[in-house]
Amino acid sequence: MERVLSGLRPTGRIHIGNYFGALVNWVRFQDEYKCFYEVADWHALTTMYPESKKFRGLIRETVLDWLTVGIDPEKSVLFVQSDVKEHAELHLLFSMLVTIPRLQRNPTIKEVVKDLHMEDKISYGLLGYPVLQASDVLIYRPQKVPIGEDQLPHLELTREIARRFNHLYGETFPEPEPILTKTKRIPGIDGRKMSKSYGNAIYITEPPEEVEKKIMQAFTDPEKIKKDDPGHPEGCVVFAYRSTIDEDGTKELEKKCRAGEIGCVQCKRETAKMMNEFLDKFRKRREELKSVDVNSILKEGAEKAREFARETMQIVRERMGMWSRD
Ligand code: TRP
Ligand code: SF4
Repeated sequence: MERVLSGLRPTGRIHIGNYFGALVNWVRFQDEYKCFYEVADWHALTTMYPESKKFRGLIRETVLDWLTVGIDPEKSVLFVQSDVKEHAELHLLFSMLVTIPRLQRNPTIKEVVKDLHMEDKISYGLLGYPVLQASDVLIYRPQKVPIGEDQLPHLELTREIARRFNHLYGETFPEPEPILTKTKRIPGIDGRKMSKSYGNAIYITEPPEEVEKKIMQAFTDPEKIKKDDPGHPEGCVVFAYRSTIDEDGTKELEKKCRAGEIGCVQCKRETAKMMNEFLDKFRKRREELKSVDVNSILKEGAEKAREFARETMQIVRERMGMWSRD
């Protein structure tokens, strides 16, 4: 069976951007591949190091949200990155194969740095974020990596590192293929990238009143003021939401919007109602999962992941001719 690896940082509850941008594929892949899904707590540390004590709780919330959307621990290996120390060893070895200017060019890291105003305090660890990610991925030697669009630069580096290692030490790693969803990128209610740190996200188990309130505030076409003004759905956040949850109705709405046959208030109301209908199953599921023993799921996952990671590390050390006492 071919393998899949992906991960998310434990930054809190999962939003619809995470879901439509990547997790739908995580769920889908479970029956066709051997899937490894990781909670990337070391990655979270690169920016949240002062709040490291919060991770314990955040990891639990993250895993419960995964279970809510249909990630099944009977099918997939769910584990916490820091439970598998082998990732750290591979990260160290890989760090020799990447230059600093190559890391400084990474657009996703640049964006994080800008968002968090960290220009003057980019740590060694943050700069190495994509190298750690390359280790996460390659240690499971997967064929596919289902991710959101913002992760593409990291996967490009992962593939470069795989090639470089293979060239230096012999064919060891596959060059994994990134898999995007149809939706790719779903905007936040203010039109920027959906992110917890912008406060513009809609969470998958958020109460219906909140979802409605957020959608009613969402950014639409600023030129469409009255109902009969012709609208431009391409830049409208509400339209983006609508096309992910109601694909069949998209054409019709687009026509009406452009023709000035529907007003934004009505359009938002309809969209909020549809979104709430869509999210209802998640809210219910999350309630049912309250008493799940997340710790034992993660313990079992860590053992399975470690077993695979250990095997890769043995091959890596052998290929590199690293010191071994046996
Ligand atoms: N950088 C990813 C994110 O922020 C998380 C991540 C860590 C990841 N390791 C990974 C994603 C390996 C895919 C593969 O969401
Ligand atoms: Fe957006 Fe709907 Fe308004 Fe058109 S009618 S601009 S799709 S909210």
